[in-house]
Amino acid sequence: MALRKLVAGNWKMHGLSSDLVEVRAIAAASHAYPQVDLALCVPAILIERAARAAPGFAIGGQDVHHADKGAHTGGTSALMLLDAGASLTIVGHSERRDAHRESDDEVKAKAEAALSCGLNVILCVGESLEVRGRGGAVDTVGAQLAGSLPASLDGEAELAVAYEPIWAIGTGKIPTTAEIGEMHASIRASLGSRYGADGAQVRILYGGSVKPSNAGEIFAITDVDGALVGGASLKAADFIPIVEAAAAVEGRGFIA
Ligand code: PGA
Repeated sequence: MALRKLVAGNWKMHGLSSDLVEVRAIAAASHAYPQVDLALCVPAILIERAARAAPGFAIGGQDVHHADKGAHTGGTSALMLLDAGASLTIVGHSERRDAHRESDDEVKAKAEAALSCGLNVILCVGESLEVRGRGGAVDTVGAQLAGSLPASLDGEAELAVAYEPIWAIGTGKIPTTAEIGEMHASIRASLGSRYGADGAQVRILYGGSVKPSNAGEIFAITDVDGALVGGASLKAADFIPIVEAAAAVEGRGFIA
């Protein structure tokens, strides 16, 4: 059984009050695609305004602190994200793993903190071009999962995993469908060995240069349960055709 698709936007460090018009437009258009789950992960400071601009639409953060409060200057806790109106957060994005030197342990602690508060989590993994070049992509992502997946999936909140090859992010390059399929099958196997039967319910998103022109092909790959979209999520005109592609795959019952 194919899982319902989740298409989440990652606005990264983009988004001012003047961009709420795009949040509104995306939320309004989403009603035409009830078979797809949608979310926008916006800068923390924009969450409350985005949530007010689009009632009922899933708004998320892009990172979360592992502690619930305390002396952590600049930190944002899971409870703060929830309080602002978020229902999910990204953790372990490669831009944070690299630029902020976040370890697998830290990503795991963040995911567990968010899930235990009831915040859904998109946990990112992905290899560098150098690792892909020497044939180590599947092992590297396997090791990231071993180190960063939360210990259990006991609560109500949902975990999703996003496979984002670092070399595909913002570059216009994407892996072949065979490479994506191989990686998603391997991630599915890791989820199964960690969580047993529940691992089959964890959605695995692909991320990295997803665009209206390639989305349909990506969504048709087995075990691709959605997408994490950066640049093409900033404007409704780019994001909605990607959602439409997800809905079309569902509608065709391609892998159901
Ligand atoms: P991109 O970013 O779609 O702009 O490549 C994806 C991501 O980093 O989540």
